[in-house]
This record gives sequence, C-alpha cells and structure tokens, in this order.
Amino acid sequence: MPICWPTSSEHSDRWSSASSRASSVNGFIFISAPPSVTPFHIDRENNCWLQLHGRKTMNVWENTDRAVVPADAVEDFIVTHSQRGVRFKEEFRPRSHQFETRAGDAVYFPSTSPHMTSSGAGWTTPGDGVSISIGVTFYTTVTRKVARVHQFNRLMRKLGLTPTYPGQSKALDTIKAPLGALIGAGRSMLSKAIAPLRHLRMAVRTPPGSY
Ligand SMILES: [Fe+2]
Repeated sequence: MPICWPTSSEHSDRWSSASSRASSVNGFIFISAPPSVTPFHIDRENNCWLQLHGRKTMNVWENTDRAVVPADAVEDFIVTHSQRGVRFKEEFRPRSHQFETRAGDAVYFPSTSPHMTSSGAGWTTPGDGVSISIGVTFYTTVTRKVARVHQFNRLMRKLGLTPTYPGQSKALDTIKAPLGALIGAGRSMLSKAIAPLRHLRMAVRTPPGSY
C-alpha cells in the first residue's frame, strides 16, 4: 500500500514549482537485519524513501517543528553539518508521523525533516529476516534558497540577532538568500585560499553550506 504523506503548502509549492527542479539526485540502498535502528537525525536533501522488502517503522517530524529541532541547530547543521543540536527526546515521539511500512510503501519527507527508523524481529522467519529499502535524495532550487537563508541567519544569530526562520517572510527570504550565497561563496574562497597553508585534504573541499 503506497503511503502519501500530505506535505505542508511550502513543500507542495516545491513539487509544483516549475522553477524548482530536482538536482543532485542520489540513490542509496539500505539492508539491515532486525533489530536495527537508524538514529534520530536531519538531512539537507529532500528524501523519497521506499521499503522494498520486510518491514520498518519510520518516524518523521515536520521540518517546521522548532520544538523538536531548534532554529539554531538547523542552521548549524546546514552550514557545518553538525548534528550537535539534533537530539531525540522520548517526549517528541507523539509529535511525529509514525509509519509502519511494508514492501511497496513509500514516504516522502522534505529537507531537514527529523526522522528515525527502527525494525523489530517480530515479522522475520527463518531465511527471511532482512529489511531492504532505498532512498532517493535530491535538492531543488527552493531547497538551495532555504539553505542560503539559513546561511545568512546563522551569521545574524552569531551577531546576537534573532532572524526570522525561512518561510516566515518571503520578502526577507528574497533579500537574505543572495546574501547567504555570498557568505557561502566567501567561505568557499577562504577555505581554498588557506588550503595550501593547512595541507589538509578537508580544506580543499567546498565547505558545507556553500550552495
Ligand atoms: Fe536520513
């Protein structure tokens, strides 16, 4: 039975906008033997996840739920890849969409939606105890724009300000996004400039958050 998670209007816009085309599409396959757990985390990409074999429980939270992941933690993750501020608490569970997936079920969740998976061994039989799923991840122009707003907001927050979250003000987002892109480009240029000095492989890579 396919699962269609009704998305917020923001994400419906993402799907319907002709200017918001998918890019950087990647696919991953996950094979696990129950019991297994994928810890609570967020991703930068949008994610279409499909259960191919076996069963898995997936909990997904709204990416607009700041009680679950605070704004500064999302910004930190977007810019530095740090999940330091992304921490599961049992009290969060009732706020999630919980899907008991079987083969053929699919779940879509947008960028920075907190999620985790678990599988128990109750359904397994001798010789058939493997859970197989695939995830297809991608960015859109909207995803990248939101990330640039996060990039700008992080700087504002470090200056002691409390910036509006992406989506709260379209007008402000329109101003912030190109400035966030400039900040990201500046970080990228600086990182490359100092790479020879550091002799570090990591330094020559484009830093996280530079879209
Ligand atoms: Fe994930």
